[in-house]
Amino acid sequence: MTDTASLPPAARELIQRFETRQARVGVIGLGYVGLPLAVALARAGLHVVGVDLDASKVQSLARGESYIEDVPTAEVASLVRSGHLTASTSFDALASVDGVSICVPTPLRKTGDPDLSFILSAVQALRPVLHRGMLVILESTTYPGTTREMLLPEMESGGLKVGTDLFLAFSPERVDPGRKDWTTENTPKVVGGITPACTAAAAAMYSTAMKSIVPVTTAEVAEMTKLLENTFRAVNIALVNEMALMCERLGVDVWEVIRAASTKPFGFMKFTPGPGLGGHCIPIDPLYLSWKLKSVKYTARMIELASEINTNMPRYVVQRVQDLLNGHGKALHGSSLLVLGVAYKPDVSDLRESPALDVIGLLRAKGARVAYFDPYVAGLEHEGWELTSVPDLLKAAHAADCVIVVTNHSSIDYAAVAREASLIFDSRDAFAAAGVHDPKVTRL
Ligand SMILES: NC(=O)c1ccc[n+]([C@@H]2O[C@H](COP(=O)([O-])OP(=O)(O)OC[C@H]3O[C@@H](n4cnc5c(N)ncnc54)[C@H](O)[C@@H]3O)[C@@H](O)[C@H]2O)c1
Repeated sequence: MTDTASLPPAARELIQRFETRQARVGVIGLGYVGLPLAVALARAGLHVVGVDLDASKVQSLARGESYIEDVPTAEVASLVRSGHLTASTSFDALASVDGVSICVPTPLRKTGDPDLSFILSAVQALRPVLHRGMLVILESTTYPGTTREMLLPEMESGGLKVGTDLFLAFSPERVDPGRKDWTTENTPKVVGGITPACTAAAAAMYSTAMKSIVPVTTAEVAEMTKLLENTFRAVNIALVNEMALMCERLGVDVWEVIRAASTKPFGFMKFTPGPGLGGHCIPIDPLYLSWKLKSVKYTARMIELASEINTNMPRYVVQRVQDLLNGHGKALHGSSLLVLGVAYKPDVSDLRESPALDVIGLLRAKGARVAYFDPYVAGLEHEGWELTSVPDLLKAAHAADCVIVVTNHSSIDYAAVAREASLIFDSRDAFAAAGVHDPKVTRL
């Protein structure tokens, strides 16, 4: 039980509604982050209303069907049947909720600047249904200051005061799609409010569904925590990517170096090189931070350098493939290539920011004939070209001048691919990891 004696009455009532599971909650944006969150809260016994502008998602949920790999349809169906989970395209459905989490996208604009338009339109659409005692939690990754600078004035524009009448907090989402051991329920949840009452209210809402809450003193600390986590990954991936470039120059096997370094029981954390960063988070989030720093005349050098190294990896992969073909008397121009795996990481279907898109685009621009196989991605479209996954991996591997592993899905039979292919470039060390050591495989 939270010690609420010093909190304003509206916060005390709200916390009690969470603690007694009488609260109704909303989730705005039912994507990779929002749907698992909505399901976790509904599973905890709260009545959850999901709102998404995408009518097809809302219709799927109404039919009791999941469209996110990590969320089983059986679970959605049972929560919809019991009335714990409903979905709507209308913000009116949020009129009677006690707390609402905003999980809308935060992409970059073409210019590389943060695009907060989804957050802004969500909070503006929410304004008419804000009522005394309501809590709003922003989950979308963004730069430090967004909750206070953008959401707070919008929420207070109707005359209610955040901290006494309304409650506002930031809580970073840490979901790692495809992961089974760390889930929405057991991953510690950081919450930071605009006031201590806001933090307490957000902690109470998430305590209903999550095992461990980590309260921090401000929304900015919570916002910055997420950016530290993802910048840490981006910088370390850049470091190991550069290590791969250096090892290649020196004729040293970077994969063996990493395996050896990983035996150190302390002070080292394993990262592996690859064809570039992908997904909605790691390539983008650090750039939110560096953009914000520009406004205080500070250059985030580590972020910019990491971004430069990681962004260049698809080009490096293409150069290595070109060299490999050249070594076998073939030109890249006119070669027939099979890209194996196009999702941004293993065992998911998410294509967002996938380096495969850049690798394929660059190979095509150099005149190669490119096909791909991915058990999770039936078709893809990017910058004026479209492809569909070849139906028969082994036949396509046999026909290709070179197979290029961009994403190492675990369901691929790498031994069979090695038998069929004449030349392989493996940017993920997938063959060796599967125990396949074949001289026709060249590694990044
Ligand atoms: N995907 C991840 O692994 C991950 C992990 C941590 C954090 N995040 C962050 O979480 C946020 C959401 O990411 P996601 O991957 O769930 O995105 P997503 O694209 O899968 O889902 C976002 C949903 O929001 C809906 N939407 C957009 N504008 C809306 C509006 N105004 N009102 C209602 N619905 C609206 C979209 O239709 C979509 O269904 C982003 O800020 C992202 O950076 C994502």
